Amino acid sequence: MSYIPEMPASVYEYFTDHIRITAGIHIPDNRRFFMETRLRKRLRELGIHDWIEYINLLNAPNTPENQHFVNAITSNKTHFFREREHFDFIETEVLPQFKGKSLSIWIGASSTGAEAYSLAILIDEFNKTNTPAIKYRILSTDIDTEANAKAEQGKYPALQVEEHVPGNLMQEYFYRGSGQNAGMYRVHDKLKQNIKFRYHNLLDPVQSLKMTFDLILVRNVFIYFQAETILKIVERVDQVLNPNCHLILGHCESIPDGSDYQNVGNSIYVRSKDRRKEGK
Ligand SMILES: C[S@@+](CC[C@H](N)C(=O)[O-])C[C@H]1O[C@@H](n2cnc3c(N)ncnc32)[C@H](O)[C@@H]1O
Repeated sequence: MSYIPEMPASVYEYFTDHIRITAGIHIPDNRRFFMETRLRKRLRELGIHDWIEYINLLNAPNTPENQHFVNAITSNKTHFFREREHFDFIETEVLPQFKGKSLSIWIGASSTGAEAYSLAILIDEFNKTNTPAIKYRILSTDIDTEANAKAEQGKYPALQVEEHVPGNLMQEYFYRGSGQNAGMYRVHDKLKQNIKFRYHNLLDPVQSLKMTFDLILVRNVFIYFQAETILKIVERVDQVLNPNCHLILGHCESIPDGSDYQNVGNSIYVRSKDRRKEGK
């Protein structure tokens, strides 16, 4: 096996610029080890031993390598019912308003799908005891195409499921794998019916989503962005969030000063002015 040299500072700078421009992800100066570990794996997969050769590959016209580069750098940590307080808020404050109506939800950085399936379980459970039922659609997007593929598959290691999903819900909404799939759970097909997993970069215009939403979750991704990027994304979100509807961020995230959002809970926001009345 051939040797890949240590990543020079200038190369590290190139990669940090590239991921910031492509995905908005800001990597601080002291994360060279993290970047190097992630990209070494990719170089080995490609059989490349030279950082400049890899940069040339990234710069080649129409190269698919850009997507592999993004997939290698993104951090996909997620789990079922993460930040439970948000699910409690949705159950008590949002869902009752949509009884007998349709509810459209966008998850803007959904990783491997646990967030989308948790929401689908929450609504299905709500519908059991509340009539008329809510008809819902969840658009679940991420910039990482590998994460999207895993989300679509809906297969998770048993430990991940058992740790975060109550036993009664696990029995109802998951199949336990056997044979080749031993040690895994797969989500029930009925959860998949109302969810679409798609590629979307939060930096891109939202017109391609082709709809507006009654609830938007963009959780645990603003931590990777700088204030100006967050404000730009909030502006985009604004164009597709219906009036008086909620935008939910991760627990340790907030919207920087300079937007029209009002904080109504732990990282839960409502737009304080109706943009339609403002003629925007
Ligand atoms: C830490 S995970 C959070 C997953 C989930 N929202 C949660 O709270 O458990 C962050 C996700 O943001 C995605 N991401 C990073 N930059 C993005 C961008 N510019 N557009 C869309 N998704 C992005 C990553 O691929 C990753 O899956």
